[in-house]
Amino acid sequence: MMFQRLFLLQFFLLVSLATATAKRFHTIPRLSPIGPGVWRDDPDQISGEFVGEDFETFFYNQTLDHFNYRPESYDTFSQRYLINSKYWGGANVSAPVLVYLGAEAPIDGDLKAVGFLADNAVQFRSLLVFIEHRYYGKSIPFGSREEALKDASKLGYFNSAQAIADYAAIIIHIKEKLKAKYSPVIVIGGSYGGMLASWFRLKYPHIALGALASSAPILYFDDITPSDGYYSIVSRDFREASGTCYQTIKNSWAEIDELASKSNGLSMLSEKFKTCNPLTDASKLKDHLMTSMYASAAQYNKPPTYPVNKVCEGIDGGGFGDDILSRIFGGLVAYKGNLSCYVNAHTNESETTVGWRWQTCSEMAIPIGIGNNSMFPPDPFDLEDYIENCKSLYGVPTRPHWVTTYYGGHSIKLILQRFASNIIFSNGLRDPYSSGGVLENISDTIVAVKTVNGSHCLDILFAKETDPEWLIAQRKMEIKIMKEWIDKYYADLSMF
Ligand SMILES: *[C@@H]1O[C@H](CO)[C@@H](O)[C@H](O)[C@H]1NC(C)=O
Ligand SMILES: *[C@@H]1O[C@H](CO)[C@@H](O)[C@H](O)[C@H]1NC(C)=O
Ligand SMILES: *[C@@H]1O[C@H](CO)[C@@H](O)[C@H](O)[C@H]1NC(C)=O
Ligand SMILES: *[C@@H]1O[C@H](CO)[C@@H](O)[C@H](O)[C@H]1NC(C)=O
Ligand SMILES: *[C@@H]1O[C@H](CO)[C@@H](O)[C@H](O)[C@H]1NC(C)=O
Ligand SMILES: *[C@@H]1O[C@H](CO)[C@@H](O)[C@H](O)[C@H]1NC(C)=O
Ligand SMILES: *[C@@H]1O[C@H](CO)[C@@H](O)[C@H](O)[C@H]1NC(C)=O
Repeated sequence: MMFQRLFLLQFFLLVSLATATAKRFHTIPRLSPIGPGVWRDDPDQISGEFVGEDFETFFYNQTLDHFNYRPESYDTFSQRYLINSKYWGGANVSAPVLVYLGAEAPIDGDLKAVGFLADNAVQFRSLLVFIEHRYYGKSIPFGSREEALKDASKLGYFNSAQAIADYAAIIIHIKEKLKAKYSPVIVIGGSYGGMLASWFRLKYPHIALGALASSAPILYFDDITPSDGYYSIVSRDFREASGTCYQTIKNSWAEIDELASKSNGLSMLSEKFKTCNPLTDASKLKDHLMTSMYASAAQYNKPPTYPVNKVCEGIDGGGFGDDILSRIFGGLVAYKGNLSCYVNAHTNESETTVGWRWQTCSEMAIPIGIGNNSMFPPDPFDLEDYIENCKSLYGVPTRPHWVTTYYGGHSIKLILQRFASNIIFSNGLRDPYSSGGVLENISDTIVAVKTVNGSHCLDILFAKETDPEWLIAQRKMEIKIMKEWIDKYYADLSMF
């Protein structure tokens, strides 16, 4: 249920874009800490109680436009944040504050899945805060979603600089309210939220002592990372899981095209893949397999189930027939379970689909293309085409260089080693987005904590009984580093 919903959510982000405009969009997978089926109510999660119940919800009157003094900039909207003070050591001892920075979704899902804060609240004696990103969930300006998403003149306030300014304002507000002026704040985020966390530390060092940026591809902008990085890793994950599986997938694209080109071929494809609605062309099927199955399985290739292995067991097993397309269908069933239909369902777009489309079209232009060294048909990234599509959707073109202009990214080690401090970039190298992550230490306090077999944002999810040693070790390392930041800060504070 949840599994399927998230699945469709991902599918729709990508595929609806592909159909609304041109093919380019389908290759930008969603950034999110939460993959299919990583929920709090997993039976093998370690802590017994559901921490969501210990959170109290608040709303802050947020300024619409932090960077402008025109009268309309002073408009406000209600921004949601949640606080858990059960474990907090209190203002008197300047006990720490862990703040989770929301990303491109309502905050409710993060609260259920991102357990890193709650799992470590006792040992840090920390206040826990989750803040929702503007334009998602219950944090919508202009009175309603419909109004807020109407056109670019309303969407214009929907960007990362405004979002981290929102977080700054709310953190200051909370600390004032709690009279916790000297409590150190550590910001935590995953994926796009991880980028926000690292950028927050760079832009607001007077508010956050440090940042844990989990699976944050801050280098997947402009020309910093080769655009084929993402799908090269997807392919490598499958090749490492099973050579025959990799080869079957690689051979399947031509098979699909060949069948589609036959008279009656599309209805045969629809039947073969048990589509929810008849296919009108093969690209919907191919996009779905590519993004909602292979890319999603690789990005969230996590223990104990390791979905890439699951897909490959379905493909190699050949339970639906020995031919290539039957094997691929077997992979789909193994991954998604027994459903009444697969692919090409007509469902409404999620908030994330709609919001992330604007974000990727305006500033978060992550240039993902497909090179020659993968199990997918080559499909290089075409920036001109991308910008044109965005312009036709919103009337305003993409600013593909703004992220690196505003936050940096080029020559990151050279630039940050003497300027910045206290950032953990964590990555799992099986995560396709790790290709745009910071994978080497930049200085003593800007460090890369990575795992060979890890996937997207694993480290910030709730700890589970089934967690492998390397994941436990990764989290331990992160906590050790954060404690060092806090200890140094307290030493400085005592001299102050
Ligand atoms: C928030 O703004 C609304 C409308 O502008 C106002 O009625 C309300 O009093 C404000 N709340 C706070 C806590 O400032
Ligand atoms: C915090 O310190 C103040 C002043 O020293 C004291 O009055 C108050 O009781 C303390 N609060 C707690 C919760 O310890
Ligand atoms: C799907 O259904 C088949 C036949 O009914 C069954 O053998 C198989 O175990 C089911 N698979 C899953 C993943 O539920
Ligand atoms: C899609 O949204 C419309 C309008 O909000 C609603 O009436 C409809 O039931 C939704 N359909 C699905 C499949 O959720
Ligand atoms: C990929 O192969 C095509 C056709 O052989 C070639 O034109 C292109 O330059 C290659 N691209 C890369 C990045 O090697
Ligand atoms: C990076 O920093 C971490 C934390 O200080 C350390 O454990 C690790 O050995 C460093 N890695 C390298 C390659 O120096
Ligand atoms: C990663 O997984 C592979 C395959 O399961 C295994 O052989 C290897 O030892 C693992 N590496 C680490 C560092 O855990």
